[in-house]
Amino acid sequence: MKKTILLILFLFTGIVTAIGFGFHHLFPFKELPYDDDQKGLRDQVLIKFSHVVAENTPKGLAVDRFARLVEEKSDGRIKVAVFPNGSLYSDIEEVSALEEGTVQMIAPATSKLQMLSPKWGVLDLPFIFPNEEAVRHGLEGSIGKELLQTFDGTDIKGLALWSNGFKQLTTNEKVIKKPKDVSGQKFRIMQSPVLDAQFTMLRADGIQHQFNDTYSLLDRKEIDGEENTVSNIYSKGFYNVQQNMTITNHGYLAYAVMINRSFWDEQDEETKNIILEAMKEATAWNEKEALEKNKEQLQYIRENSSMKIHTLTKKERKEWLNALSPLYKKYEEEFGPSLMKEAIKLRDGNF
Ligand code: SIN
Repeated sequence: MKKTILLILFLFTGIVTAIGFGFHHLFPFKELPYDDDQKGLRDQVLIKFSHVVAENTPKGLAVDRFARLVEEKSDGRIKVAVFPNGSLYSDIEEVSALEEGTVQMIAPATSKLQMLSPKWGVLDLPFIFPNEEAVRHGLEGSIGKELLQTFDGTDIKGLALWSNGFKQLTTNEKVIKKPKDVSGQKFRIMQSPVLDAQFTMLRADGIQHQFNDTYSLLDRKEIDGEENTVSNIYSKGFYNVQQNMTITNHGYLAYAVMINRSFWDEQDEETKNIILEAMKEATAWNEKEALEKNKEQLQYIRENSSMKIHTLTKKERKEWLNALSPLYKKYEEEFGPSLMKEAIKLRDGNF
């Protein structure tokens, strides 16, 4: 008897479940009441923007500004969640994270993009930009356009090129004035074959390490020095663990702002236009802010640290350029004649 009751209960539960789930089109549940908030949530767009520098830097500030502009222009419909300081991904991981769509936007140093296309190395050629005007010609002119086009047909869409500034050399051993002064020393460099070749040419060791390890490598004296912009030297406190800085302006730190292509393609025209408009405004703002930040922070380091700061004289700069110019020949074939022609024009001030 007990068994029969259990069997009836079992069959009854089965029939009710089948009606509820399996045959719900035959016996539909009453529709849930319409909810405005839920509809709003479905329309929202979330962009995760990951980067590796501090917030108070040309890139950190430009990302924050871009985020604010996008939110304002979309009345809060598009949100940009910013993850600074490598809190989500390191500089070594972020490109794959973007390709896989785990984040939607990143802005890595252009030096780190040679694994996607060797052409990006052109911006790492030594002394390619003699001044700020040359930087603008390079990033906004044909070189910048050709580099952004290298993303065509990939999982990445290039949106803009941002600026940080000219790179300087910091060391502990002695003030660097001549190319031979770096010989035998270990320098942390970005993941760039051209930078690597540059240090090899100077008989120094270019050690490729992620950005956020640099401070501890310097502090533990595992490396002798590094090359970076004043803004990164200031914001990461490298000036506290290095004795000397030489204002060489031997290279330039620029960023490629990139978005995951499938994510981009899924967006409607209104969203795309808002992102593009905000990017245009943030890019123009970044250009001025980068100059200001590097100037202001150099002044701070001069006034508040014991660092010895030397600026290359014209004669010293010429020696550096002569020592490193064979690299232009070395990369001629890899970068192609048109890019190299433009690069030499910039280097020689013929633009
Ligand atoms: C950055 O500015 O994004 C990092 C630069 C570096 O790796 O030195």
